[in-house]
Amino acid sequence: MTDTRDATLAEPASSRPPDPESDPILVLEDVRKTYTPPIGPPVEAVRGVDLVVGRGEIFGLVGPNGAGKTTTISMITTRHEPTSGTIRVDGVDVVGDPANAKRHVGVAPQMPNLDHSLTVWEILYLHGRYFGLTRRDAVERTRSLLDRFMLAEKSATRPIDLSGGMVRRLLLCRALVHRPTLLLLDEATVGIDPQTRRAMWDEIERLRQEGTTVLLTTHYIEEADALCDRVAIIDHGVLLAVDTPAELKRMIPAGTRIEVVIDTDLRADAGAAVAELADVGEVETTETGLRVWVTGGDKVVPEVVAAIVASGAHLHHVSVHEPSLEDVFIHFTGRELRE
Ligand SMILES: Nc1ncnc2c1ncn2[C@@H]1O[C@H](COP(=O)(O)OP(=O)(O)O)[C@@H](O)[C@H]1O
Ligand SMILES: [Mg+2]
Repeated sequence: MTDTRDATLAEPASSRPPDPESDPILVLEDVRKTYTPPIGPPVEAVRGVDLVVGRGEIFGLVGPNGAGKTTTISMITTRHEPTSGTIRVDGVDVVGDPANAKRHVGVAPQMPNLDHSLTVWEILYLHGRYFGLTRRDAVERTRSLLDRFMLAEKSATRPIDLSGGMVRRLLLCRALVHRPTLLLLDEATVGIDPQTRRAMWDEIERLRQEGTTVLLTTHYIEEADALCDRVAIIDHGVLLAVDTPAELKRMIPAGTRIEVVIDTDLRADAGAAVAELADVGEVETTETGLRVWVTGGDKVVPEVVAAIVASGAHLHHVSVHEPSLEDVFIHFTGRELRE
C-alpha cells in the first residue's frame, strides 16, 4: 500500500501530538513477563518494555502473532502480574492497587469471554453493577450503549446467536459501561468485514474526542496507520520503535519516492542538480521526468523542487509517495507482518 499525495502545495507533514510525558495515562517501566508453563521451557513473552501513553491518544501496539501484545494488555488489566517492572494507570500501580486500577481500565479482549448464560442486556447491566453503577445508571448506560452500537434489537439475545461483528461490538460496549479513562482494544476488529471495521474506526475516533484514551493492538498495519496518533512496533516481546506513523515512515532509508514531471530537454541537468542534494538517494530518469528517492519524507520536497527550478528546467507536476507502515515494519523486523 502506498500513500499517494499531491505535493504541488507541499507543506511539511509534521503535526506532532502533544508530549505524552506531560500528561501520561499509562506508564510501563521495564516491564517483563516470563510464563512458566507446567511443561516445557519458560516463555519470555515481554522483555523489558518502557512505554508512556498520553491522555487522549489513540496508541497502537503493532506486531505479528506471538509478539507479546496480549500479554502486555493482560498485565495492564491485572489479569497477569508482571514478572518485573511497574505499570501505572492514571498514577495507580496495577500490582499495588489492582481494584482501583481496574476501575480506570476497560478492555475488549482478543478472545471473546462473554457469559453465554446471559442475554446481551444482562451482560452490560451486570457489568455496570459489578463496577458500582447504580441500578438507574446501569440501565441508562446499557440502553445508550446498545443504541450507539446498533445492538438494541439484540437485547434479549444470547452471545452464541450473535454474528462475529456483533460479538466484537458487544465486547466494546462492555468495555465502556463503567466509563473507563483508558480503553484497551486487543485485536478488536479481527474477523469482521471491512465495512464494520470502518464503522469501528469511526467509533474509536469518536470515543477519543469524548476524552477516552485508547490503546489498541492490531496486526492490520493499515488500521494502525489510519487510526493511531502513535504506534509502537513490537516483536519478540521488545519494542523496536515508537513514534507517529509519519515519523516512523521517515526512518526508512530513502523510502520516499518523488515523481517529477519536467520538460525533456533539461532533464539530465535537473537530475544532476537533484542528485547533489543531501538526503537524496537514487535519481532515475523516467519517460516524463525524474524519479527521486529521498530520506526524510516530504521535508525534502521543497529542496528538490528548488534544485529543479534553479537548473532551468520547467516543472509541471510533483507527486510524493510515502512508504507505508508495512515498509516500516519490514525495515525494523526484517520480515513482513503477515507470514
Ligand atoms: N498463558 C501462557 N502461558 C505460556 N505462554 C504463553 C501464555 N500466553 C502467551 N504465551 C506465549 O507468549 C508469547 C506472546 O504471546 P501473546 O502475548 O499472546 O502475543 P500476541 O498477542 O502479540 O500474539 C507467545 O510465544 C505465546 O505463545
Ligand atoms: Mg494477541
